[in-house]
Amino acid sequence: MSHACIFPALQMPVFLSPWGISALPWRRVLEAFQVGVWPWFGTSDAMDEMMPWGRGSLTSRPSTGDGASEPPLLPAGSPRELPFYHLPVLMQEVLDMLQPAPGKLIFDGTLGGGGHSEAILQKGARVVAMDQDDEALAYAKERLKPYAESFCALKGNFRDFPKVLTEAGVGGLDGMLIDIGVSSHHLDAAERGFSFAKDGPLDMRMDTQSALTAADIVNTWAQEDIERLLYENAEESQARRIARAIVQDRALKPFTTTLQLAEMIARVCPKQSKRHPATQTFQALRCEVNQEYAALRDFLAAAPKWLKPGGRLVVISFHSIEDRIVKQTFAHQSAPFLDRPEWPEPRRNPDCHLRLITRKPVEAGEIELSLNPRARSARLRCAERLS
Ligand SMILES: C[S@@+](CC[C@H](N)C(=O)[O-])C[C@H]1O[C@@H](n2cnc3c(N)ncnc32)[C@H](O)[C@@H]1O
Repeated sequence: MSHACIFPALQMPVFLSPWGISALPWRRVLEAFQVGVWPWFGTSDAMDEMMPWGRGSLTSRPSTGDGASEPPLLPAGSPRELPFYHLPVLMQEVLDMLQPAPGKLIFDGTLGGGGHSEAILQKGARVVAMDQDDEALAYAKERLKPYAESFCALKGNFRDFPKVLTEAGVGGLDGMLIDIGVSSHHLDAAERGFSFAKDGPLDMRMDTQSALTAADIVNTWAQEDIERLLYENAEESQARRIARAIVQDRALKPFTTTLQLAEMIARVCPKQSKRHPATQTFQALRCEVNQEYAALRDFLAAAPKWLKPGGRLVVISFHSIEDRIVKQTFAHQSAPFLDRPEWPEPRRNPDCHLRLITRKPVEAGEIELSLNPRARSARLRCAERLS
């Protein structure tokens, strides 16, 4: 973990950067989709997987009818030349919940392509961000250069944020955001081994310096441990069948690539829905490799105490197991009293630091869903620090 980054503006007045070309608001992204252009990020292969109607309409400007394409929207060499990385979900909802404004300090624990951070910075707040992925950090730092005085990115797992922020001299947060899971870049980059649609090494590490890879699990774990992993991490109903097939196949040839595993699963579990039969196995492996549930639990346990009174905690999750963890933790952290059958009377809850802002998870609206199918599974929950 590197903490070399210094955040000079943390203890200083906010510096409002000039409106950069890369700092276009979310609504411009939506507009850009609607007019059929993909204006400043270039193209994404993940878009092909996510957009059933095809990506062609996103990557070129509408024809002028005379065969000549229109000039680019922005001059070459501008920050829009950054390749596509990730399209943030529930952007307006995040802003509504966090209410970023000058003088506020917001923690973004999943910086990714920097989309949410950029929107928060545009509102005049300062952002201290983390990501465990070096590629995400490099990309977002480049994108957010115009905000150098009010933005800092630190490498690390958000489960370790108390240590990382303490070392960076940061405390007293007005808002915290985590938007968990993989980015579109993870799925696009075959060499990272996250996608069952592209051939790559069976890796799946977000932090490429961590030890365990997906190949280690499928090639060395006992059959019953693989079965339990598939069931517990992804509620895979075919867990036993897949675990048995993995162990049989690896005796002949170890698994080294994503397609080798995905094709084997498709062979033993014929497709029954629109989803690829390997979807849950890949999710289960990814969660184990990156210890995603444990990281989420650790983060949620520590987060409330880092918020100022009235500060807000926002979590975006992408599948039911994660959302359940958030829902149950928030329920516990917002219950003033605890009760158990063996207790004569309810007791005060020492972990009660929050007030629920969302009783039900917030989901993407129809416009966002039509523009970004990945938002389909996104669930946002928010709670506020009590005084
Ligand atoms: C869905 S993307 C976030 C996208 C981001 N909100 C944006 O606007 O571009 C998730 C990012 O979180 C990172 N990540 C996931 N789990 C993490 C963890 N436990 N600690 C730090 N980073 C994590 C991933 O590497 C990835 O870059």
